[in-house]
Amino acid sequence: MRRILVTGSDGYIGAVLINKLLEKGYEVTGLDTLFFKNSILGNYNPKYRLIKSDVRQIQNINLSKFDAVIHLAALSNDPMGEIDTVLTEEINYKATIDLAKKAKKEGIKRFIYSSSCSLYGVSKQEIVNENSKVNPLTAYAKSKVDSENELKKIADEKFCVCLPRNSTVFGYSPKFRDDLVVNNLITSAVALKKIFVKSDGTPWRPLIDVRDLANIFIDFLNIDSYLVNGQVINIGFNDSNYQVNDILKIIKEQVPLCAVIYTGEHGADTRSYRVSFDKFVSLFPSTKQEWPLQRSARDLIDKLEKLMFSEKDLNPNNYNRIEVLKRLISDEKIDKKLFWIH
Ligand SMILES: NC(=O)c1ccc[n+]([C@@H]2O[C@H](COP(=O)([O-])OP(=O)(O)OC[C@H]3O[C@@H](n4cnc5c(N)ncnc54)[C@H](O)[C@@H]3O)[C@@H](O)[C@H]2O)c1
Repeated sequence: MRRILVTGSDGYIGAVLINKLLEKGYEVTGLDTLFFKNSILGNYNPKYRLIKSDVRQIQNINLSKFDAVIHLAALSNDPMGEIDTVLTEEINYKATIDLAKKAKKEGIKRFIYSSSCSLYGVSKQEIVNENSKVNPLTAYAKSKVDSENELKKIADEKFCVCLPRNSTVFGYSPKFRDDLVVNNLITSAVALKKIFVKSDGTPWRPLIDVRDLANIFIDFLNIDSYLVNGQVINIGFNDSNYQVNDILKIIKEQVPLCAVIYTGEHGADTRSYRVSFDKFVSLFPSTKQEWPLQRSARDLIDKLEKLMFSEKDLNPNNYNRIEVLKRLISDEKIDKKLFWIH
């Protein structure tokens, strides 16, 4: 697997993955509609071939020259999915299945789909695994469940479908996001010396650093097909299920002057689940975690301080995905179906 197409290549995970693939000598092509082209933190000037296209409009793109597709492009979190639930289905589910069918028809050997543990929603079970009942609470989570189920049907001995169900991601990427729980708490701690917590701090969430996840996507390119084909695999580390209060404690240790304020309101995000990664560990025994939360938090805080990240940088039009999209719509840069207006 040398010639790789990465959709969503200009996103938070994509930017880190592209760099790692290039470093390792893969021939990389990206495909992205570039919603977040200005959401850059630090220096970012990647040199790779980019197809600027919407994943809903790929009919004329020749896929036969690729060995594998890593499919990241999506409305990529719960709030974005709620902009328009039909649109979420069109981009996250329908376009995914159309892309996979086209890839299979044109001879691509492997299709890696970026699913999400958020489809576990709220779970009363102690710890969920791949056999647990899913509980998708949002259009986003439902689009992940539907895509997984349909992609399983497309898999066969010539077309390997990998279904990593990823933990919530955190850490530094040059295409930065501060709408992810850890990043959001850290940017607030650095810029305001205050963190506002919109829950009682008890919800559980499995977390993974973006650089560790990018390495795992590359591992999926290289693992034998018979071990993973058509199977869902939770992606994360067993000691990386955290409660929000644990995250706060780690940040407080590193930004000691920061005040934590529990607002008493109940935020929109009601998810809480703990996940088992035993299957991942058994299939990828040599994959090690390089960026545990403490190390990644220290690294992000150092980078933000060096860049003199301040209150003005917290402007939601910078690193908050739903706000960036809403702004593009209100400025009539993109239409309500999220196509660019030329
Ligand atoms: N970030 C997380 O915590 C997390 C966790 C689990 C799974 N995932 C999944 O991983 C994938 C990547 O996540 P991310 O955090 O990098 O998201 P992101 O929003 O930062 O990046 C997504 C990229 O896809 C592009 N895109 C969106 N719609 C498109 C379309 N119609 N056509 C072409 N390009 C389009 C965007 O421009 C963006 O660059 C998503 O599928 C997401 O659901 C993310």
